[in-house]
Amino acid sequence: MTDSARSDHPEPGALDVLVLCASRRTGSFNARLAELAAATIEAAGRTTRQVNVRELDVPSYDGDSEKSGGLPPGAEAFAELLRRAHALVITSPEYNASMPGLLKNLIDWVSRLRPQPFNELQTLLMSASPSMSGGNRGLWSLRIPLEHLGARVYPDMFSLAQAHTAFGADGRIADATLQARFETNIQNFIALAEAATHYPCAKKAWVEFLGERGEFAGVNEQVSR
Ligand SMILES: Cc1cc2nc3c(=O)[nH]c(=O)nc-3n(C[C@H](O)[C@H](O)[C@H](O)COP(=O)(O)O)c2cc1C
Repeated sequence: MTDSARSDHPEPGALDVLVLCASRRTGSFNARLAELAAATIEAAGRTTRQVNVRELDVPSYDGDSEKSGGLPPGAEAFAELLRRAHALVITSPEYNASMPGLLKNLIDWVSRLRPQPFNELQTLLMSASPSMSGGNRGLWSLRIPLEHLGARVYPDMFSLAQAHTAFGADGRIADATLQARFETNIQNFIALAEAATHYPCAKKAWVEFLGERGEFAGVNEQVSR
């Protein structure tokens, strides 16, 4: 038994993905990237739920207020969203070559819960920035607390550079090669998240099959030879 918030496995094929945008800004490029990520996931037949850090407002972490009042409502709400999700996508701005303070603060609050909701959560990191770096350094810094908390952070991350000119009128990335790379990144992540979510069920079914008697007995013998 692991210390996981996700003990119940979903129906085979089901995958609920939480898409978090870590920019509060109206007209945020990361909000546009989150929209595109959600649309891509939905087009692949999975369900998404989008949330903005604006809806998960929390005060600065304070051990005294935690002791007296527990977690603020925004942190509790985020934790509940994480518990319900099989996978998480974060689109986050890069601030001074790191993650936004409000995102780290939210992670710090949620990390106080047990079971700890990030543990074993398949997670994909994405960023959009008007700069040439596309926010890539910020994503590397974001990996650190998430991996520390047991999140399975997908190796390949997506950083959209020059985001102010990158989107087409249809909300997709105007450069076809980059759009294809974005879609592949998401599809590969979904494939891994789905395997990780459903593998325990598949493993159980296989063990039961080997234990079958009657009409499957001959098949088992053939397999074992
Ligand atoms: C405090 C601050 C620091 C920033 N530092 C960086 C940075 O290190 N790298 C970068 O590419 N952009 C940086 N930017 C520019 C942001 O990428 C830009 O404001 C972007 O539009 C923020 O994302 P959003 O459009 O989703 O709000 C910074 C912006 C602010 C406000």
